[in-house]
Amino acid sequence: MGDILDLIKERRNIKQFLPKFVSWEIISKVLDAGRHAPSSGNLQNWKFIVIIESEIKQKVAQAAYEQYEIALAGALIIICAEPEKAERYYGLRGERLYTIQNCAAAMQNMLIEAHSLGLGTRWIGGFDEEEIKAICSIPEEVRPQAIIALGYPKEIPPKPPKYPLETVVYFHRWRNKLRDPAKYMNDIAVILARKAEKAKEVFQKSSQFVVDTAKEKVNQIRKKE
Ligand SMILES: Cc1cc2nc3c(=O)[nH]c(=O)nc-3n(C[C@H](O)[C@H](O)[C@H](O)COP(=O)(O)O)c2cc1C
Repeated sequence: MGDILDLIKERRNIKQFLPKFVSWEIISKVLDAGRHAPSSGNLQNWKFIVIIESEIKQKVAQAAYEQYEIALAGALIIICAEPEKAERYYGLRGERLYTIQNCAAAMQNMLIEAHSLGLGTRWIGGFDEEEIKAICSIPEEVRPQAIIALGYPKEIPPKPPKYPLETVVYFHRWRNKLRDPAKYMNDIAVILARKAEKAKEVFQKSSQFVVDTAKEKVNQIRKKE
């Protein structure tokens, strides 16, 4: 398994899947990653509906505003939220905000686990909620929040651009940026690493200069001979 940051950076939203079987061993690992996600007060107010029957996958794909490509994925996982449970403990904030955050945390865990196992995922947020409820007999008080299409990628799309850190990070106050956070924080390790890198560059340049001059001298001597 690679470094977690590499996995996070490499993961892509897969559009097309190969019509290939995905084992329960893999599906259960992905679900397990979801179940271990953080949740408000550890409420775990989610349920995961796994769909492996192709007929039901077709119906879900249709309900997902005709994103038919997902019907080829080995499995679809519908992440369902139980907002009432969070409302009981945390009121409106629990119902409206924590519930969504809980499911999103479970979702992301599953995407990363799937990627680490060599599979691809597609996050499906666009679907008709009532249709999905009807297909899967989901009770009124439960909300399907998102669907994961899980399978073997047909192709990996190129990485879409992501904002650099400098664009998305503020310090202490809205819009307040630091020119050099490492310097501001006196992060000795980063500062020393930069100095070492600079020294390496200078050394490489000057040693190249010595080699080039020596070669030139040898050539001049040879020409005179
Ligand atoms: C809330 C949400 C809803 C999304 N809905 C869909 C969707 O319905 N269909 C789809 O193909 N991708 C959907 N995506 C995936 C995004 O399009 C994708 O993550 C984005 O383009 C960035 O690409 P990346 O995931 O490869 O970095 C959704 C993502 C999120 C977070």
